[in-house]
Amino acid sequence: MKVIRRRSFLKRLILFLFGAQSAYLLFDFFKGNKEKDLDTEDIFEARHLKDFEPGRIYPFSSGKFYLYKFDDGGVIAVSYRCTHLGCTIRFDEGSGSFVCPCHASAFNIKGEVLSPPATRPLDTLPVQIKNGIVKVDVNHPQKRRRFERSQLVYG
Ligand code: FES
Repeated sequence: MKVIRRRSFLKRLILFLFGAQSAYLLFDFFKGNKEKDLDTEDIFEARHLKDFEPGRIYPFSSGKFYLYKFDDGGVIAVSYRCTHLGCTIRFDEGSGSFVCPCHASAFNIKGEVLSPPATRPLDTLPVQIKNGIVKVDVNHPQKRRRFERSQLVYG
């Protein structure tokens, strides 16, 4: 009788350990995939968050975006593409705004339209801050109707 109980107990113990190990491996697999998303070719690694001064525009020509850090530490990345017909905008230090050389649309630092013919703000690019490093997803621009503080990302 004791032998049977012991066998039954061992069977259950082995099943439990096998189940726990499987659950751990599944958890690790999915966790690992999430972290991999940050390292895909879509992600442009900018700099450490502390290397950005608040109130300054930082151009990243190879990523085709501008990054701006607000006084409260929030950052936003806006696309180089004008929302009128897609020309490349540039930042004009004198006016403190983005201007389009094609048809003269202008946008403020939040990407909001100051002058038409563009009718909607510059697209934002998803920003992730991981271990203090600002990473920008350059291949998934987000259209928006207006600037909202929820578009800012904090470290
Ligand atoms: S493409 Fe920018 S204003 Fe027309």
